[in-house]
Amino acid sequence: MNKKTIEDICFCSKRALVRVDFNIPQDEEGNITDDTRIRAALPTINYLLEKNAKVILMSHLGRPKGKVNMKYSLKPAAERLSQYIGKPVTLAEDVVGESAKACVEAMNFGDVVMLENVRFDPREEANDPEFAKELAQFGDIFVSDAFGTVHRAHASTAGVAQYLPAVAGFLIKKELEIMGNALENPARPFVAMLGGKKVSDKIGVIENLINKVDILIIGGGMSYTFFKAMGRNIGNSILEADKLDLAKSLMAKAEEKGVKMYFPLDIVLGKDYSNDTETLIVDSDKIPDDWEGFDIGPKTREFYTNVLADAKTVVWNGPVGVFELPIFSNGTKAIAMAMTKVVENGGITIIGGGDSAAAVEQMGLADKMTHISTGGGASLEFLEGKTLPGIAVLADK
Ligand code: 3PG
Repeated sequence: MNKKTIEDICFCSKRALVRVDFNIPQDEEGNITDDTRIRAALPTINYLLEKNAKVILMSHLGRPKGKVNMKYSLKPAAERLSQYIGKPVTLAEDVVGESAKACVEAMNFGDVVMLENVRFDPREEANDPEFAKELAQFGDIFVSDAFGTVHRAHASTAGVAQYLPAVAGFLIKKELEIMGNALENPARPFVAMLGGKKVSDKIGVIENLINKVDILIIGGGMSYTFFKAMGRNIGNSILEADKLDLAKSLMAKAEEKGVKMYFPLDIVLGKDYSNDTETLIVDSDKIPDDWEGFDIGPKTREFYTNVLADAKTVVWNGPVGVFELPIFSNGTKAIAMAMTKVVENGGITIIGGGDSAAAVEQMGLADKMTHISTGGGASLEFLEGKTLPGIAVLADK
């Protein structure tokens, strides 16, 4: 990675202003349902504490739209972090107000303060320079470790770097190195496994990966737009009618580049989106009217498993079926299992965040993958080859 990291800078007697992504899922009562993102920030926070820095944390949680709404308070995150690091985490009552100032003022070296949700202030998402300056007053060095939010040009992710030296934490370093190496210098065959509902969400990724991979496997709801573009009947399956030309041009581009593009051979159909719906398995060119495709079928599971068996690098983004309904989760399960075999055979597997990460976690296979990105939108934009504003602002080596 060509960006400076926390290892390139001295933190003794310094205040480290650290952007983390503690945008964690919670249930109705506010209990944390998955604290992966908190655990992912621990190496950076612990390192800074070992260096005896004062650690001031900034994060957003949810989308409170610039208003104070305690439903989105970082209190549960501060409490959970405190348990992990074994010391108090003082949560300020505001973001840059009197409470935040007093909390930071009262810090000793080795203390941790967390500002309240930065999105309680409308100036955060507007990347307001004055707000960025107010945040910057709390630190001597800006540490960016919120990989999940680096695609946002907000005050706490990008603006603050105008006022402080800015370096990457260990999570950003790890994400960029693993995903960057896979894209730039992959062990081959390099396979991209792309699923999810819409082609429109994955256009950028397909366009970028077509230049890098050997094989592109398609699954999930977006398959049906491709099938329609091939002139097939898709029944009631999800279709982006305005993306048919695009689907055709992506297939033509893959052919031109010599990239093999594989589509489901058979489909598990249902009458409606429900776990008790009637189901039918058919070849993908024989989808009858009145049925809707919800998962890849058994022949496809076997075929994709065989393709993945030879892969040395796999990037997966998007489930291949409606895995949240158990009757349509077999395809996504089979892909996840096939990916564990890639790792067992010495290959590299990368899960590009979002729904596929959730699927792998749900199946208890997370620790069998090489890397699960903590970014949903951020890892998608990284795979699209876009410049990420929160990375661009960091100091070069
Ligand atoms: C995420 O969960 O993808 C990040 O925390 C970014 O959140 P946002 O989409 O609300 O900006």
